Amino acid sequence: MSYLLALDQGTSSSRSIVFDRAGRVVALAQREIRQIYPQPGWVEHDPRELWSTQLETAREVLAKAGLKAGEVAALGITNQRETTVVWNRASGEPIHNAIVWQDRRAEPTCAALRAQGLEPLVRRKTGLIIDAYFSGTKLKWILDHVPGARDAARRGELAFGTVDSWLLWRLTGGRVHATDVSNASRTMLLDVHRNEWDEELLAALDIPRELLPQVRPSAHLYGHSESALLGAPVAIGGIAGDQQAALFGQACFSAGLAKNTYGTGCFMLMHTGTEFRSSANGLITTSAAQPTARPEFALEGSVFIGGAVVQWLRDGLRAIKGSGEVQALAESVPDAGGVVFVPAFTGLGAPYWRPEASGAIVGLTRGSTVAHIARAALESIAFQSAALLQAMSRDLGAEAAVTELRVDGGACVNDMLMQFQADLLGIPVVRPQVIETTALGAAYLAGLACGVYAGLDELSRNWRVERRFLPTLPRERAAELMERWERAVRQAVAG
Ligand code: G3P
Repeated sequence: MSYLLALDQGTSSSRSIVFDRAGRVVALAQREIRQIYPQPGWVEHDPRELWSTQLETAREVLAKAGLKAGEVAALGITNQRETTVVWNRASGEPIHNAIVWQDRRAEPTCAALRAQGLEPLVRRKTGLIIDAYFSGTKLKWILDHVPGARDAARRGELAFGTVDSWLLWRLTGGRVHATDVSNASRTMLLDVHRNEWDEELLAALDIPRELLPQVRPSAHLYGHSESALLGAPVAIGGIAGDQQAALFGQACFSAGLAKNTYGTGCFMLMHTGTEFRSSANGLITTSAAQPTARPEFALEGSVFIGGAVVQWLRDGLRAIKGSGEVQALAESVPDAGGVVFVPAFTGLGAPYWRPEASGAIVGLTRGSTVAHIARAALESIAFQSAALLQAMSRDLGAEAAVTELRVDGGACVNDMLMQFQADLLGIPVVRPQVIETTALGAAYLAGLACGVYAGLDELSRNWRVERRFLPTLPRERAAELMERWERAVRQAVAG
């Protein structure tokens, strides 16, 4: 019995994937989820929908794979991180919609924390900068705005969780309220050196401890799913935030190995082993997926709008009918014709951290067409990622430069984008045979906890290259393009 089930609850969709022991995809099921925009800068999800779509896809994928739940060795959960859910422990009902990681409503709280001089403390204990991106200030917003919530929380009636905890709680019929270190490290409430909730940070945000889940290693037997859900109980053996799961699924287990995921956002992570390394260039330090109780870390650059820019071309600009059309439209012109698109729809994340920035399309002329805009939109994904790698290289210095970038996520199938990425970076961009590395990472963690794998060596052997994109652009030209990008960013920030 060597099948593993991964539940991957992402920003745009809920997906479930069955893998075999060699890490190959056996079957996949997916449902898009509704994005709720109550006002500019706010983004919500319905937690009930996150759960129902996740359960439906889990059932569907087992049927597609021709498997019964009893034939699955274990399941792993991976998820959009930071997104904040609070529910009532007795009724199981959420007390508010989930506040999504992209949501900026907690910025005033962040400004107040910065004004109190808490930035160095937060950085030292959590590895993070103070930003509305992380869960802590979103949780505070819910406690401040839902009548009676803070008192109910103090009485132990409410539970907080990132999406992994919410799904775990539902899967176990309310028996297990836990999270893993990689998700917990995104709350701005965890002391990542000790893997414990931090009293000082909880006090600063006025968050009652009674709300919080238990923190566990990423590979851990969390419990079993209720038998009625999938037909038989399945061991829940792994949890990791989607970016740390992808790092794990890319077999980046040791210092210096890096990956970039092209999802709704773009997330570049470089493993730094057991070393907690602080960035001087706008990156954050985050807990990597931890297969044991030993803390492991990564440097991370998070870009808020990556593949989501294609959704905007479809739903906002109505330039395309389906996301699949973007490549053909972008390739109908030889280049972006001088157009630069800065998709700062929810401010700018790493390495700029400018919450006030808004989107900008610059360099338009009479000759500009929607094709140039589409091309510039795709290029913006690569420009933002290149800015992350530059920041990482500055942090590392020459001695430990990143020598190649492993890629995954939906948009990495776009050859034009990957080639442009390699050209900008000046290092090989390597696409593995299995690009479902987020789900794979969760499956691997579950497989480790439940004895399917003896150790990391087997997982490293499973990782195989599909295509290597080598840089072809002269470095001076790449530098010019980056300079033009940075100019456009300055314009987006100036507003
Ligand atoms: O930090 C947010 C991230 O975890 C969301 O990932 O794949 O849903 O864009 P994704």
